[in-house]
Amino acid sequence: MASKDQTLPSLLVTLLFLLLFSALLSRISGLESVVDEKEKFSEDLLIRPLSDGKVLSHFYFKNYQRTLGSAAHTHVFPKAISQLVSKFHISELELSFTQGRWNYEHWGGLDPIASSNAKPSGVELWALFDVPLNQVDPTWRNLTHALSGLFCASINFLESPEGVASPNLIFESRLKSGADGFVRYGALPREAVCTENLTPWLKLLPCRDKAGIASLLDRPSIYNGHYHSLRVHVKRSGPERAVVLEQTLTIVLQPTQIREGGMKELPHWSLTSLFGRQLGGKCPVAHSSHVLLELEQSLVESVKASADKTGGKVTSGVDIPDNSVFHVSPYPEAVLVESLDSWDVPKFSSVMLEYDLEKYRSDQPLNLAMHWKQKMAWSSVRGPFRVSRFLTGSGNEKGSIAIEMKKNFNVSSENGDSSGGDLLEVTVFQMVPWYVRLYMHTLTARIDGNPVPLRDITTQMLVTPAEDRLHPAVLEMHLKLPRNMVSLSLTVDFDKGFLHIDEHPPDADHGFDLPAAFLSFPTSQTRRLYLNHQAADNKDSSLIQTLNEAGSLYVYTTILLVPLATPDFSMPYNVITFTCTVLALYFGSLLNTLRRRIGEEERLAKAGSGGKLKKAIAKFMEGKSENQKKLIKVSGVILVAAIGVTVSYVLEHFEAL
Ligand SMILES: *[C@@H]1O[C@H](CO)[C@@H](O)[C@H](O)[C@H]1NC(C)=O
Ligand SMILES: *[C@@H]1O[C@H](CO)[C@@H](O)[C@H](O)[C@H]1NC(C)=O
Repeated sequence: MASKDQTLPSLLVTLLFLLLFSALLSRISGLESVVDEKEKFSEDLLIRPLSDGKVLSHFYFKNYQRTLGSAAHTHVFPKAISQLVSKFHISELELSFTQGRWNYEHWGGLDPIASSNAKPSGVELWALFDVPLNQVDPTWRNLTHALSGLFCASINFLESPEGVASPNLIFESRLKSGADGFVRYGALPREAVCTENLTPWLKLLPCRDKAGIASLLDRPSIYNGHYHSLRVHVKRSGPERAVVLEQTLTIVLQPTQIREGGMKELPHWSLTSLFGRQLGGKCPVAHSSHVLLELEQSLVESVKASADKTGGKVTSGVDIPDNSVFHVSPYPEAVLVESLDSWDVPKFSSVMLEYDLEKYRSDQPLNLAMHWKQKMAWSSVRGPFRVSRFLTGSGNEKGSIAIEMKKNFNVSSENGDSSGGDLLEVTVFQMVPWYVRLYMHTLTARIDGNPVPLRDITTQMLVTPAEDRLHPAVLEMHLKLPRNMVSLSLTVDFDKGFLHIDEHPPDADHGFDLPAAFLSFPTSQTRRLYLNHQAADNKDSSLIQTLNEAGSLYVYTTILLVPLATPDFSMPYNVITFTCTVLALYFGSLLNTLRRRIGEEERLAKAGSGGKLKKAIAKFMEGKSENQKKLIKVSGVILVAAIGVTVSYVLEHFEAL
């Protein structure tokens, strides 16, 4: 009885303690949320079925740090990046590692994902520095070294000014927010990209690939794809100069069903079929974590048309996640529709299905899947122009580079194009290494096949001539083109330079890769405005916010392979083998002569087993004194040595010739 009386008060005390403790805990978590305001991490995955049956996956990780400095303590933001930004006074930086070629025709050209993630093959790096002009090049050099250490890549090859440009016009629209400073741009078209670059990139994420969206990154599936591009973008923005780090990985994969069952199979896919994994919840420190499935405008249009044909309900009543064409499972938490601000554009717009990863955990994972019920043909939104670059001419002496733009559709002022009147603006940036010697006076422009004077279409042109082994040639043009034109071609002639034998890469006969040319269309907007009315708690997907931002369209051409005259790399080999043969002969006979004892040979010759030569020698030696014999031997050796030396001298002489 007494013990029971005692338990009641002790229980009360425990309860009181628990209450106090929970109050304390909530205070602490309140503090944490205050701390979190200084840093914010969010993760998103956008999946988009492509019109050629492939699937685009875009991983997007955004990390925000409000203050920078030695006193700032970081929980989530990678220290390596904040140190890099403060040490090299970076205002903006973008580094991309890409393998494969973006298919602008089938994968889209006029959307924010394609515009900022379709990158040229290899490594591309550009940075805007907030330092005085005389400090820019040393800072760039140190930055390339730091980055190559950070990402395990040979970015340090960009330290020499031979492959670095300082562009002006092309970055004008990108850096429009009054950013001043100096830009440097470099590209390594031949750099191979693999897991050793992905692993350091993952290390910058707070959960690496252990939790959250990055846990899908299964190496064999990623590197099996048709295209993959790893990108790091750092920017300082706002009055407080907060650092925003965006890490993206864009992959185009072929769903396995097609590969197994032939082209007739429908392109069904699911997270497990694409990556071999499912999503078991978000990264615990992420502020928001979303998986988005984007359906393109023309797909939505076809789905609605098909629903109308099969006697479905009125057009607006089609259930996008489950209709007569495909079925998406599980059912999304939200369906966002792109809002088009102008009336003239088609009635159909792209649709985004949203899944919040907060609702999934490891015992109840998300395995997003899309099951097609019938084959559907649709097309992606293409950019206003199809851009290609090629070489003309043959032989190892000269040729010309041509950039050709062909119109995809009639660009009207309503079609996503805001300003510019009846003129279309294009900026072209091209960096050419010094060994391709451009003749700028041969630069000609043709519109629809007819030559036009350059001054009629260019508003600004900046040319930096190349200097041998010092600077590349850089050509930047700002063009204003008539809207009714169909094609434009720009050609410039060049001579191929000769490289020293040491300057050739190991497989020189492969040729040299010229970095991709880079075009921007400032009047074509790539914005996709998705408004989410449900997300009122500011837990909106940060990728959707990025898609909502206006930006101009960027297009890269492919890299160009230029064969250069190569020296005869087998010549040194021939000389070495020849000289070695002569030396071997010389030393062989020398040793032979020194080793043999003449007396014994005489004896053998007398025994009658020797050949004619030996007999002749024996006869010659007969009757000579010991001294005379020695003299004859030594002179024989000297004769052989002299022949050897003469032959090698003559050979050296020939090589020099
Ligand atoms: C670049 O690095 C070198 C060697 O570490 C250093 O001496 C130099 O001051 C650095 N320059 C800049 C501009 O950071
Ligand atoms: C573009 O416009 C021209 C005339 O303005 C017209 O003849 C042509 O058919 C149009 N092309 C497309 C693809 O709409």
